[in-house]
Amino acid sequence: MHVTALALAALAVPASAVIVRDRDADGANINNPYRNMLKRGITDNVQQVNGKAFDFVIAGGGVAGLALAGRLAEWKNVSVCVIEAGSDGSDVRDNIDVPGLSYGESVTTKPGRDWGYNTVAQAQLGDKAVKWPRGKLLGGSGAVNGMFWGRASSHEYDAWGDLNPGGNVTWNWNEMNKYIIKSETLGWPNQSNIDTFQIAIDEKAHGTSGPIHIGWSSFIYPFTSNWVPSWEALGFTNKDLASGDVRGVSLTPSTLFQDNQTRCDSKAGYIDSRPDLPNLFILTGQQVTEVLFNGTKDADGNDIASGVSFSAYEGAPVYSVQANKEVILAGGTIGSPQILQLSGIGPSSVLTPLGITVRKDLPVGHNLQDHASSTMYFSTTEIQNWAQLWSNKDAIAAALAEWKSSKTGLLTYINEAVGYVSMADITSASQATAAANAINVAQTVTDVAAAHDMPSNVQAGLTAQYNILKQWLTDATGQLEIILSMWGSGANNVGIQCALQHPFSRGTIFINSKSAFNAPNIDPSYYAVDIDRQIIGAGANWIRRLVASGPFANTITGETGATAGLNGSALTTAMQNGAGTEYHPHGTCSMLPEEMGGVVDTRLIVYGTNNVRVIDSSIIPLHISAHLMATTYGIAEKGADVIKQAHWKPPPPPDVSVSPTATEDIAQIGEATDSSVANAQKAGVSSGLSTTAKIGLGVGVGVGAGALLGLLVFCMCIRKKKRPTTDEKGWYAGANQQDNSAWDAQQAYREQDAFPMGGVVAPRPNRFSSANMSISTMATADLQPGQRMDSSYSLGDYANASGANTPYRDEPSPLPPAGQYPTPGFQTLGSPSSGYGAQQYTPVVPK
Ligand SMILES: Cc1cc2nc3c(=O)[nH]c(=O)nc-3n(C[C@H](O)[C@H](O)[C@H](O)COP(=O)(O)OP(=O)(O)OC[C@H]3O[C@@H](n4cnc5c(N)ncnc54)[C@H](O)[C@@H]3O)c2cc1C
Ligand SMILES: *[C@@H]1O[C@H](CO)[C@@H](O)[C@H](O)[C@H]1NC(C)=O
Ligand SMILES: *[C@@H]1O[C@H](CO)[C@@H](O)[C@H](O)[C@H]1NC(C)=O
Ligand SMILES: *[C@@H]1O[C@H](CO)[C@@H](O)[C@H](O)[C@H]1NC(C)=O
Ligand SMILES: *[C@@H]1O[C@H](CO)[C@@H](O)[C@H](O)[C@H]1NC(C)=O
Ligand SMILES: *[C@@H]1O[C@H](CO)[C@@H](O)[C@H](O)[C@H]1NC(C)=O
Ligand SMILES: *[C@@H]1O[C@H](CO)[C@@H](O)[C@H](O)[C@H]1NC(C)=O
Repeated sequence: MHVTALALAALAVPASAVIVRDRDADGANINNPYRNMLKRGITDNVQQVNGKAFDFVIAGGGVAGLALAGRLAEWKNVSVCVIEAGSDGSDVRDNIDVPGLSYGESVTTKPGRDWGYNTVAQAQLGDKAVKWPRGKLLGGSGAVNGMFWGRASSHEYDAWGDLNPGGNVTWNWNEMNKYIIKSETLGWPNQSNIDTFQIAIDEKAHGTSGPIHIGWSSFIYPFTSNWVPSWEALGFTNKDLASGDVRGVSLTPSTLFQDNQTRCDSKAGYIDSRPDLPNLFILTGQQVTEVLFNGTKDADGNDIASGVSFSAYEGAPVYSVQANKEVILAGGTIGSPQILQLSGIGPSSVLTPLGITVRKDLPVGHNLQDHASSTMYFSTTEIQNWAQLWSNKDAIAAALAEWKSSKTGLLTYINEAVGYVSMADITSASQATAAANAINVAQTVTDVAAAHDMPSNVQAGLTAQYNILKQWLTDATGQLEIILSMWGSGANNVGIQCALQHPFSRGTIFINSKSAFNAPNIDPSYYAVDIDRQIIGAGANWIRRLVASGPFANTITGETGATAGLNGSALTTAMQNGAGTEYHPHGTCSMLPEEMGGVVDTRLIVYGTNNVRVIDSSIIPLHISAHLMATTYGIAEKGADVIKQAHWKPPPPPDVSVSPTATEDIAQIGEATDSSVANAQKAGVSSGLSTTAKIGLGVGVGVGAGALLGLLVFCMCIRKKKRPTTDEKGWYAGANQQDNSAWDAQQAYREQDAFPMGGVVAPRPNRFSSANMSISTMATADLQPGQRMDSSYSLGDYANASGANTPYRDEPSPLPPAGQYPTPGFQTLGSPSSGYGAQQYTPVVPK
């Protein structure tokens, strides 16, 4: 541990420890009469959440939503509510957990667990619509996805910062890498797999204590051993792609627990591992239909959101919750822009014709980017592959039985062999330069804008993006991801996937109805720009070089499938016609300056609002050469710290002159006034620390780690004596950590709750093992209907303080005039219908 971190950690504890009081370290009142209601829970009983007030309301319990919820709920003094449209996934457990089964019988084939989207017909894909699966359950798309864990090259994240000059929060490689590392725990494959498949691991590039466990399949198809050496024969380096430069070849890690070969999604990582979060509420089976605004504005004229409304299906009752502090959208690249547009925040050209009053004219839904992917097929000398397994029901059943009994066998396998190539790799250095020079940025913007009714600010942002993309054509930036797929077209066959990483094409996602239950129009406009077609054509030719190199030269015997025998433009057309999504769409709520077509600023706050953020993959302004999950976890981790910093009320600096036995009133903790917090929030993160906080930090570091450590040890003894007797050890977050010798190190992860944006607090023991506790049952039993949650947390002393223009509120809003907008807490009845879960779903797996 670094000295500075120690000093900070030491400072954190004495600050609360010297003040002996009937609250735990985070200010929660253990004598609160309503504290039994504050048990963390997952429920589908809407009555237990409807009409309640929470500090933070999160729409969507996917990758970002649950990661964010877990981190915010580390502060025991705030309440967090997640509203997820899908289920808790318990009915499709095996299809989530078992790696191979999640490919072969994907969750996206299960009724009600996939949103079942399709794009509009794609002109450059032979005028076909293509499927766009998205997970509809806790864990989101991370519960249904291919489990690839990867981050892009460093300069690709730096570009996000370049596109946001003057942003108040820094977004670049250092930040993203730090937060991705914070989210992960690296597992190790066994040595024989490392040797056989040449798995390169750069240990220092990975995290060791994050909630998301990553590792490698224990069974890997033998044919995969050809992958790395065949790339090496073409001069590529075998590497761990996490080190900041993805050009090269790799067997990448997957989101699984190494020891039991089970998927680790955001629910497993951030929620199930933390049954000690009493202030977190998760409601499933309800779709957020709108962000509610009650007409209040902050001093800058930004609208203050007061909650959200939600409903299970078209015509079902509409409910609502109140957000005391913030509404955070984490519905993903489709869900988040849809909610904003339904709430009157979107392009007026889209909203006005639908009869939706425009609250803020913002280009929500523009700047959509996706990786388009096509697969080429090759016959092989080897029979064994996934397609062969899937042709034999008995073999699948046997493999599942083996997974269940020993967590080994064929169903532990998932694709992990990947590589990234630059434009020069697939053409030549001079051809790459010529291709870049041939791009007329202004003309391309004009052409793309004409196809999408694109506002001028979006065009300005696109121009900035194109200038970056043009540069990336001439350097080592990964332009294509190449993936080995053991889903061949049959036995003796493999697929090699070719996925465009940095499309120039831009699309849109716009609602076409006032109803939240009508899917929006999804138009990624794949291959609309010529350079995208050139890259995929060159990529197909390069794959032919790969299969003729190294050991592939002897194990791959010929090309099969739609591209076989085609050259030139016919080959490119075949690649286009065979294309689909690589499942990595983003950009519909882009983080960009408003004059560049942004929807959120660098604090992830939606322009024109005071307290609505978007925190998920939709904020990514420019695509990366990586699958999106790890990056989305990084966004959520960073977003959580941005929020914590905005609401961080610094503890008073430790006053060593105070007698350690003196009992101080809690009021001392609440020194910062509401308006100072609100001002800090408005001012953004860089200025989020009040003067007191800065002095506090200065004093802490200045006094020196040694002295503070001494104080820490001393205070812990005091604390132990004074600790109120309570049998609610798990709930009592301030309980002495030494009491928890049985702490399960594997499940615990580090928190930075007292010191957002820096500092490391000692790991908090996880007092419950999830094996001993049925979370859902506990939740349902313990959540009490009919009581206002807001009166039950301990914040009364400061939340009720006068602070007129703050978004904080502790009182129910007055009854709305008849016929007006549903105020949070009031149910609006519609006529129920029986449409829920009646969609049709199709497999994601290429066959
Ligand atoms: C089939 C598939 C395979 C993929 N493979 C990989 C891979 O191998 N590696 C990788 O890195 N990435 C992969 N991805 C992409 C990755 O999963 C996503 O980029 C990531 O999940 C995005 O996270 P998110 O939080 O933005 O959205 P999601 O994880 O999709 O979460 C959004 C959540 O919000 C919910 N929601 C939406 N609207 C509402 C609403 N109005 N009210 C309430 N809830 C709502 C959804 O049901 C969902 O639970 C894949 C995706 C898919 C679909
Ligand atoms: C490593 O894992 C593979 C696949 O499960 C197994 O066949 C092999 O025996 C293991 N090797 C060692 C040394 O444990
Ligand atoms: C796999 O291991 C993790 C971590 O120990 C645990 O939380 C999870 O419940 C296990 N899953 C299964 C299916 O055994
Ligand atoms: C509107 O909501 C805000 C934020 O929750 C609250 O402070 C304010 O009092 C509300 N105003 C009305 C009129 O309900
Ligand atoms: C066409 O492609 C095949 C490979 O599929 C190659 O062998 C052949 O030489 C190519 N023909 C021309 C004219 O480029
Ligand atoms: C919650 O506790 C943290 C310190 O752990 C503090 O900074 C923050 O201001 C508190 N939040 C509220 C709303 O009291
Ligand atoms: C950064 O914060 C300052 C102070 O609140 C604000 O004036 C400025 O507009 C912000 N900059 C951006 C790019 O959001």
